[in-house]
Amino acid sequence: MNQVLYVSRKGNTKKVADAIAQALGVKAEEIGPQTTAAHAELLFVGGALYAGKIDSTLREFCEKLTPGQVDKVIVFSTAMSGKTAGPEIKSILKPKNISVADEAFHSKGAFLCFNRNRPGEKDLKKAGEFAKKIAGI
Ligand SMILES: Cc1cc2nc3c(=O)[nH]c(=O)nc-3n(C[C@H](O)[C@H](O)[C@H](O)COP(=O)(O)O)c2cc1C
Repeated sequence: MNQVLYVSRKGNTKKVADAIAQALGVKAEEIGPQTTAAHAELLFVGGALYAGKIDSTLREFCEKLTPGQVDKVIVFSTAMSGKTAGPEIKSILKPKNISVADEAFHSKGAFLCFNRNRPGEKDLKKAGEFAKKIAGI
């Protein structure tokens, strides 16, 4: 089973999550304080950067995740810049011996007057293709 979970304050990362989920034939779910991962072979986890950090709800979710809940985590993210959520998520998961794929998906995300309309159609198409390649479908 593949699962797609995300945190998105403004909707940009949600667009990518939905594109990935659609490509995999599942439904993306927003992470809340009570969210725990069902056992997933591939767990796609998405978030954005806010003042250089991931949202605390996403951080807490990652802190609670256990190796038994997931075979492999794949990170996707959006941000105003090319900086991704990957390093922070990996820094939480790797010490717990949770496998995190080297491959990750990142799209520029609209913020103030920057990156208008991103992620756009092309970004979402790439996100879907990325997910299918990772899942081998
Ligand atoms: C309060 C705030 C702080 C942000 N700080 C950063 C940042 O430090 N670096 C960056 O690249 N983007 C930053 N951004 C831009 C967001 O990462 C970008 O808009 C992202 O796509 C938002 O994702 P979301 O719509 O899923 O919340 C910030 C946005 C907000 C609202």
